[in-house]
Amino acid sequence: MGSPLGAYSTEIYLRGLDGVRPDLPTDPNRLEDAARAVLAEEPFDYVAGGAGTGATMRANRAAFDRYGLVPRMLRNNTSRDWSTTLLGTAMPAPLLLAPIGVQSLLHAEGELAVARAAAELGVPMVLSTAASHSTEAVAAASGEGPRWYQLYWPTDDDVTISLVGRARAADFAVLVVTLDTWTLGWRPQDLDRGYLPFLRGIGTAIPFSDPAFRAALARPPEDDLAAAVRYRQRIFTGTARSWDRLALLRRHWDGPIVLKGIQHVDDALAALDAGMDGVIVSNHGGRQVDRAVGSLQAAVRLRHPHRRGRRGCAGARRRRGTAGASVRLRAGARWAGRGAARPALRARGAGPHTGPRRVHRPRRAACDEGGRRGPRVRRVEG
Ligand SMILES: Cc1cc2nc3c(=O)[nH]c(=O)nc-3n(C[C@H](O)[C@H](O)[C@H](O)COP(=O)(O)O)c2cc1C
Repeated sequence: MGSPLGAYSTEIYLRGLDGVRPDLPTDPNRLEDAARAVLAEEPFDYVAGGAGTGATMRANRAAFDRYGLVPRMLRNNTSRDWSTTLLGTAMPAPLLLAPIGVQSLLHAEGELAVARAAAELGVPMVLSTAASHSTEAVAAASGEGPRWYQLYWPTDDDVTISLVGRARAADFAVLVVTLDTWTLGWRPQDLDRGYLPFLRGIGTAIPFSDPAFRAALARPPEDDLAAAVRYRQRIFTGTARSWDRLALLRRHWDGPIVLKGIQHVDDALAALDAGMDGVIVSNHGGRQVDRAVGSLQAAVRLRHPHRRGRRGCAGARRRRGTAGASVRLRAGARWAGRGAARPALRARGAGPHTGPRRVHRPRRAACDEGGRRGPRVRRVEG
């Protein structure tokens, strides 16, 4: 086993002996402040904002506040091994980088930098269909790193088949199908500025580089951006999807398939009945539906299929504090997906030396804090 994940803080303190301080704040709240100070308002708010009144974002946080960690003492945690294998993907801890689109809003390198950092840490990255770089370019940056592919499911079947075929050819191991974004949520911070990156050709690299997508256009996106944007909008919105249509994905993807955005037990069971391999409990970080139930709350309800021996899995919203992953895992999730966007936004906005690694290592370290047989999670009464 390599060095404990929590050794990261020791590294920081040792550098402190030489007078070297972290170039980015380690407190996520201060990181956000630092990013706000240097980023333009549009990209900052696009990433930081949520749907409607922000009630779902608040519900996500409140759901975590109902739990607390109860540390246990004098147990031999010296040697800790968080490594696990999920749906055939080996990982050093049960953490994945959640799919985050349009990362070039924050830095031109976007998903390429995240792919490199994830590969270096051995943490699986989930690549969004709304990425700023092509599937193949991200796969090349990821190298031997573990990677999953998140599909925004187009209504044009030829494009769907082509997108998943490209992902499979580029060694993405698991298909994550996001179900909660057939249309964008009502996002006042973006609406008030009339700001939607996709209409400007940002976050469109995957469809724009897709042969089936390009074949549907009279002229390529490089020559007629407006037409390409219109076609993209047309096929990535709409609700013409039903449980039986999952068979199409199953036919064209020979690896595990996971449905993202599940909140209700019946939908989780329907997913399993449809032959899916798992679900991700998520409300899209509160960006889609205002007044949705907090994801952790939903995840706790969804433990039941998992208890019955069915393959359930539950991600939930990342917390501001570093204990969020621990809470989720101890509350019954088999693994925790963590959104790279908000912390990465802060990191990239906050200073020049801003590798995504800086953001993800602390989370991995925090996961290690309690040790595997460490704290139990308890519901806080009242
Ligand atoms: C800026 C931003 C972009 C996102 N893009 C995607 C995406 O392309 N696909 C997807 O399935 N989820 C997307 N999500 C949702 C995340 O995968 C995740 O469910 C959510 O962010 C919860 O984590 P958070 O606490 O970091 O918000 C996005 C979230 C944010 C904040």
